[in-house]
Amino acid sequence: MAKAPEKLPGHVAIIMDGNGRWARRQGLPRNEGHRAGIENLGTVTQCCIDLGIPVLTIYALSTENLQRRPRSEIQFLMRGLSRFLREKRQELVEKGIRFKHIGRLDELPRGVQRHLRLTEEATADCGTLTLAAAINYGAHREITDAVRAIARKVKDGDLDPEDIDEGSVEEHLYTDGLPALDLLIRTGAEKRGRVSNFLLWQLYYAELYLTDVLWPDFGQEEFIEALRDFARRERRFGGLHKDERKSRRRVAGSQRSKSS
Ligand code: FPP
Repeated sequence: MAKAPEKLPGHVAIIMDGNGRWARRQGLPRNEGHRAGIENLGTVTQCCIDLGIPVLTIYALSTENLQRRPRSEIQFLMRGLSRFLREKRQELVEKGIRFKHIGRLDELPRGVQRHLRLTEEATADCGTLTLAAAINYGAHREITDAVRAIARKVKDGDLDPEDIDEGSVEEHLYTDGLPALDLLIRTGAEKRGRVSNFLLWQLYYAELYLTDVLWPDFGQEEFIEALRDFARRERRFGGLHKDERKSRRRVAGSQRSKSS
């Protein structure tokens, strides 16, 4: 494996874009791109385990994908998802991968709902890696659902509006319990720096990494390159650049010595 940097993100999210273009370039039907995409998920997940990255969130299907893609493509993805969950459940347990679904469960086909629930239950005590899969996910809906749940608590007298803070909003998001997002990767980006209704609240101070590499080709090397890029960044969270901080410390120090 290529050498990974020492400073690693604790939570990585990926918009796995480019399956369709990958298939077209190979002269294959679109669904073959999704098949290759599902396979690549295994590679990147294993990479997270090997490196010790504790949380990976993947954008498998947005609410908009479900509404706007041809029925046959959605059916293929749903079948692929059910097969993945059925066939990989035991492997997830053996590898210590806790599976978590984020998104609206009740609008998915019953069979998929069942597989998602069974996989979450079977892997609930796993602690090596958390794999959060966004399926029928949309960030606007996630925030709207959180607002509705909070409003209900206020109405029932269980919550004082004055006590609502950022923490209480986070507790009502689908991602409740996951750590802060450090790095968002978008594959197949082709200079399209959009976030496509993904994790809008959680993106907060996450670093963004865009690559033209299509998802089925985004293997171990490419993932480690994204991690290296992340490790080189100085994260300021709205604060000052480190040179600026140093020079302010110098000025403060010389002012102190002049006055003493
Ligand atoms: C984007 O490529 C990809 C998707 C909409 C689906 C991604 C889903 C998976 C890889 C399945 C993961 C599922 C599991 C097992 C949890 P695109 O079709 O938009 O590509 P294009 O932009 O090149 O057309």
